[in-house]
Amino acid sequence: AGSFPCLNLCWVSCMCLTLQVEETLKPFMLSMKKLREISSRFTKEMDNGLDKKKHQKAAVKMLPTFVRAKPDGSERGDFLALDLGGTNFRVLHIRVEDKKILKVDSQICAIPQEIMQGTGHELFDHLAKCLGEFLESQKLKEQKLPLGFTFSFPCEQTEIDKSILIRWTKGFSCSGVEGKDVVQLLKDAIHKRGDYDISSVVMVNDTVATMMSCNQQEHEDPDCEIGMIIGTGTNACYMEDMKNVKRCEETEGQMCINTEWGGFGDKSPLSDPGALDDILTDFDKEVDETSINPGVHIFEKMISGMYLGEIVRLVLVELTNNNLLFEGKVTVRLDTKHTFETKHMSFIEGARVDQEVIDTIQDLLKVRCSEDDARVVSLVCDTISSRSAHLCAAALAAIANRIRLNKAKDNLKTAVGVDGTVYKKHPNFRHKLEDAVAFLAPECDLKFYISEDGSGKGAWVSGVHFCKSLGACAC
Ligand code: GLC
Repeated sequence: AGSFPCLNLCWVSCMCLTLQVEETLKPFMLSMKKLREISSRFTKEMDNGLDKKKHQKAAVKMLPTFVRAKPDGSERGDFLALDLGGTNFRVLHIRVEDKKILKVDSQICAIPQEIMQGTGHELFDHLAKCLGEFLESQKLKEQKLPLGFTFSFPCEQTEIDKSILIRWTKGFSCSGVEGKDVVQLLKDAIHKRGDYDISSVVMVNDTVATMMSCNQQEHEDPDCEIGMIIGTGTNACYMEDMKNVKRCEETEGQMCINTEWGGFGDKSPLSDPGALDDILTDFDKEVDETSINPGVHIFEKMISGMYLGEIVRLVLVELTNNNLLFEGKVTVRLDTKHTFETKHMSFIEGARVDQEVIDTIQDLLKVRCSEDDARVVSLVCDTISSRSAHLCAAALAAIANRIRLNKAKDNLKTAVGVDGTVYKKHPNFRHKLEDAVAFLAPECDLKFYISEDGSGKGAWVSGVHFCKSLGACAC
């Protein structure tokens, strides 16, 4: 008889705990109405970025890329591709023939933390050294091949081979590079060595390379007009009508625009308060304030792989401090920045049995984890990754609708080339994203294509094509 009240008490206390956990997670749960509102705010920010007078002050930069058309299949030749955008730097030898992009060979070089946050000279010398070693191993040093440089940071491009870095993102902070032409810095580092040379250089963002390589893939869907990355960072590009790119003189044809949507939510003279201030949680604010670039790329910090794990960790610390997890014990590991990574979220959300989650958490955070704790951690991960997918969907829906209106169509059918570990490796992310876009942009039927190696290979198609199709364009 005595067991009943006890059971009831446990049940009541369980309910209370669940309610308190939900209370902490509530600010991360965005209604579809809110997401629609965010989608409209993003549309407004895109307009600011394209505007002749406002673009310099805009939070969403909407950068002209000088890529004027999608590939038509006649591109061919041997090229080198460099891909810098995260903790690794890749060098590729690419051959384009018969509408196919073949990777002849490739090599990965790590970018150590001290180089990521050292001087610009050290960074470009390191890149030139890695390229030199690759050419040596491929016996290509005597050839002077053209080079495609996928440089995945916001750049104001004035020509396809002139690209001024606006600011670093994703943990890079090399001195003396912001405000400089990164293509020139690369060429200088290569010439300084003097043991090999390259012919022309074209520079593209990873979103552009991804969109271009998606057009090179064989599929029956219409052209790929959007490129999207959800990995260490996040961003998208799309084909825009020149007549809407008010900051450029030309009005004919199209150009690919690198939105740099990571900057959505940043405060600017045009957006103060920031466009996402009402949905920022205390955890988001802490992630931003303790990052190496506070106030910069707010949207990216709510979405991408570099930050998601850290948001989860901060929520877990708060729940533990409030006695809702791990018997209230905050271990040194749990309290240490970046111990919980986005790949751990993917694993936990994909785990088939609680025990897998328990083992991972115990191992990672050096904490005793009960079955209830494991469920709470899974719920936290699911909530944060859902918000990330939904926010991406809000921005993507705005882009798709924009393309639809440009074409004056009631319904749009188009394809999106996608790359990035969060999209590719997280077990549910892509479904959450795709479902939410379908809801937010019901008139747009989007097909998503994962681009394999797009950010390296695609640089090529952009480059070759650019050389053929570029008309005069003043931006
Ligand atoms: C960051 C960069 C952007 C890049 C994205 C994905 O947001 O600023 O240029 O495309 O990361 O790598």
